[in-house]
Amino acid sequence: MKTELNFSDAAAIATELLVAFAVDHSTSKDKDAKPELALLTTESALTTAAQDVLTSGEFKGSANETLLLHSPSGLQAKRLLVVGLGKSSKVTVNDLRKAAGVAVRFSKPRAIRELAIVIPNSELLPLGPGGRSVVEGALLADFDPDTYRSDRKDQSIDSLSVIAPQKADKAALETAFAEGVILGESQNFTRSLVNEPGNVLTPTVLGERAAEMAKEVGLKCEVYSTEKLHELKMGAFWAVSQGSVQPPALIVLTYEPEGAPSEPVLGLIGKGITFDTGGISIKPSEGMEKMKYDMGGAGAMIGAMRAIALLKPKVKVISVCCSAENMPSGSAYKPGDVVTAMSGKTIEVMNTDAEGRMVLADGLHYAQQLGVTHLIDAATLTGACVVALGMINAGVFSNNEEAYSHFVEAAKISGDRFWRLPEEDDYRDQIKSQIADIMNTGGSRWGGATTAAMFLKEFVGETPWIHLDIAGVAWLEEQKPWMAKGPSGTPVRTLVEWVRSYSS
Ligand code: BES
Ligand code: ZN
Ligand code: ZN
Repeated sequence: MKTELNFSDAAAIATELLVAFAVDHSTSKDKDAKPELALLTTESALTTAAQDVLTSGEFKGSANETLLLHSPSGLQAKRLLVVGLGKSSKVTVNDLRKAAGVAVRFSKPRAIRELAIVIPNSELLPLGPGGRSVVEGALLADFDPDTYRSDRKDQSIDSLSVIAPQKADKAALETAFAEGVILGESQNFTRSLVNEPGNVLTPTVLGERAAEMAKEVGLKCEVYSTEKLHELKMGAFWAVSQGSVQPPALIVLTYEPEGAPSEPVLGLIGKGITFDTGGISIKPSEGMEKMKYDMGGAGAMIGAMRAIALLKPKVKVISVCCSAENMPSGSAYKPGDVVTAMSGKTIEVMNTDAEGRMVLADGLHYAQQLGVTHLIDAATLTGACVVALGMINAGVFSNNEEAYSHFVEAAKISGDRFWRLPEEDDYRDQIKSQIADIMNTGGSRWGGATTAAMFLKEFVGETPWIHLDIAGVAWLEEQKPWMAKGPSGTPVRTLVEWVRSYSS
């Protein structure tokens, strides 16, 4: 999808589909009350074109509701699509991101290949973040995980114009728009990685894809395998890898912009299990095909590093992704095994399906050895987190209030949703082992997301740390009006905002 920012009259744009947004100013709580609709534009030609239908009561302007007009009078566009944003008292740029996505997903099955979306011009929504969220939402909506279908009709939108008011601060809006393009495309890059089947995207291939991307955007990338794991004594990461004929990949991406202070150095650590069978503690076959998305944490980090390289914040960032395939085989690690992590801690393996924390243990430790001062990890780590929070919020854990407050601000900008869960030391008893320093499960089923976090906490020491359990949100189980079913690319945008919040 080609994107451009266009400062001209929306009414004069000859396009297949012009899109404008409507809000409901009514404060009535009664669902049947007549809405008081307004198009968020100062161009009277647009308002006039939609006037009759907006006053008819047929269209309520609810969030993501659509209304299509053919040959709208007074406009050069062939069609006008009005997308609702809901009540004006509640509208946010996050609603706008979705609504822009709705316009794109409305167009795709109708073979509409060209779109012009009018940025809301109203005191309800700031213009810069508005322009950015429109293009982000449109790019995210254009993605479909259908690359392997031979009946794939190229349903991508060819071109998108985002229409800005002529009086806008052009430079500021152009910057915001360019950021939106980078973020949308980077999140889609993550989604394309996560969508790959396990037979295609092995750890080696994930490393190759990261290296290709790094070359394109000017990042340093090193990809190591078995020998390096042995050299670094990454016994926990290796334990998981050893059951597969596919060698592991330790992917290190480094972003060191000129002029950045020596500290902080932010560490982005990702779980990159390209397929999780559960290993010897094998998973039930039902739904196992989904476990190709068990590299969603690493995928998010790699996509975030792409955006960081292009947005150029003034802060050092190192990403460490630990990629392996978790397989049962004659060489696989087994329940009861004791392995020594890179940090020197010994781990009693209780369940080989708790492999994510094993690879992350060494990734977190290694990142600190590379000089990282602040850690953030993302992992499709536990089913327990999905039980606790469902598929709306990801779990977030942190041992440091300052790093966490940066994170909360970042999530406000991104619109991704998180719910904080505890990592208090009272839970530590649950991972104590009689045989080794710790064990890799929480003993009982209870508090599984927290006991997994407690395991990771053993490897972060005093370093400020944020852990994201994205098991429930990295894959959308149902399509949304603004997004296809499948890989979501969450939490790429939040990771990038978190990094930018440290930019000096
Ligand atoms: N990859 C899974 C977690 C997962 C579950 C991701 C559902 C996405 C959706 C992880 O490796 C795992 O299997 N965790 C176990 C841990 C248990 C053995 C302590 C789990 O959650 O059951
Ligand atoms: Zn597992
Ligand atoms: Zn897993």
